[in-house]
Amino acid sequence: MTLPQTDFTGFSGKRLQLGVTGSVSAFRAVDVMRRLQRADIQVGVTLTAAAQEFVRPLQFRSLTSGPVYEGLFDSNQAEYAHLEPAQNAHLFLVAPSTANTLAKHAGGIGDDLLSSQLFSFKGPIIHAPAMNPRIWSSPAVQANISKLEGRGTGIVSPETGLMACGEIGEGRLAEVEEIFLYALKALLPQELAGRRFLVNLGPTREYLDPVRVVTNDSSGIMGASIALAAWLHGAEVSVVRGPTPSLWLPRFLPTTDVTSARQMHEACLDLATGMDIICLTAAVSDYRPVAEQQSKAKKSSLGERITLDFEQNPDILADIGRMRKDSQYIIGFAAETDDILRHAQLKLHEKHLDLIVANSVSRPDSGFGTATNQVHVISRCGRRESWPVLAKTEVAMRVIEWFLDHSD
Ligand code: CTP
Repeated sequence: MTLPQTDFTGFSGKRLQLGVTGSVSAFRAVDVMRRLQRADIQVGVTLTAAAQEFVRPLQFRSLTSGPVYEGLFDSNQAEYAHLEPAQNAHLFLVAPSTANTLAKHAGGIGDDLLSSQLFSFKGPIIHAPAMNPRIWSSPAVQANISKLEGRGTGIVSPETGLMACGEIGEGRLAEVEEIFLYALKALLPQELAGRRFLVNLGPTREYLDPVRVVTNDSSGIMGASIALAAWLHGAEVSVVRGPTPSLWLPRFLPTTDVTSARQMHEACLDLATGMDIICLTAAVSDYRPVAEQQSKAKKSSLGERITLDFEQNPDILADIGRMRKDSQYIIGFAAETDDILRHAQLKLHEKHLDLIVANSVSRPDSGFGTATNQVHVISRCGRRESWPVLAKTEVAMRVIEWFLDHSD
């Protein structure tokens, strides 16, 4: 599965060592490796002896040109294999990581190749644990997790769900996409660390009655890409999301779900005052029916033609712009069908923005529901650029870079 909002690329030249340990979820390490490779990351692999009971080294060797290590005394490998990732990899990821491997790493034991490699590795290390829920919640494992986190080691917490052993609880290996995103974050400079970043996304829905609704085709992909790009650069991100049932977002993005424009307005304004950067991408319904009917109106009583009365919804971005602090940086999006630059420029000034990202929603490769966008960016001080058709993830990365380069 590749999701458009996580399809970040441009990591060629980055090398990662993937440790695989003896968990029933070890087969998912192949998916983790493939996912990393799709972002152009070169992957080497170290399997513990227990991992090799679940997955074969050949499986990895067939799929990567990076080194695949099987053990400390494997005669086919370099003499200093226990030191090799320290010299060559930018990141060490252990997925899945068992209680035993976590304990060895926390306690400084190097009695096999993987634990010895972790010892000598000076770059960032991430564990994605997987184990029975009772083992995961045991005081010994939790003490080791705290110890590792205290030393700056990344932990991708396991998920709650049905375990292979039939128990239900917290212990399942995190989703591949989440593990992938943690790896990307560890490979990027954390230039937004300490900054609070609000994103809204998706459409809103305005109900005429319990079954009839006014909405639009916004998928939320652009907003999700912005939220993830900001998180990858270290920001503390909050998301307010309109109804986007098929849009995947990772567990680590705190998300407020809303339906109508008025609910989105309330949620965004509540959060806005505490934010350093605000980026509103949502396709908010500009109007709502004057009165929502509580029961379904029958065709027989409505007749052949109907006329509906609408009133204007609040403009979330304009209200945030009006109340803004000088220290805040506010980014809006503009969905246009014609005269894009002129309309976008007007919105930039009328809504008191620092940056507006304008796109055409009438092109097939841009706007609602697509994985790509063709945008123009205009800043408050008149700087302007037109970008080619790009993946929405790439647009998101460029918007973050624009902020980092031009916000002072
Ligand atoms: N926006 C908002 N609240 C609204 C309408 C729009 O916060 N009620 C925000 C959008 O999230 C976007 C920006 O304002 O960041 C521009 O939205 P857009 O739909 O392009 O334009 P509108 O301001 O609604 O104006 P118009 O429909 O006349 O083009």
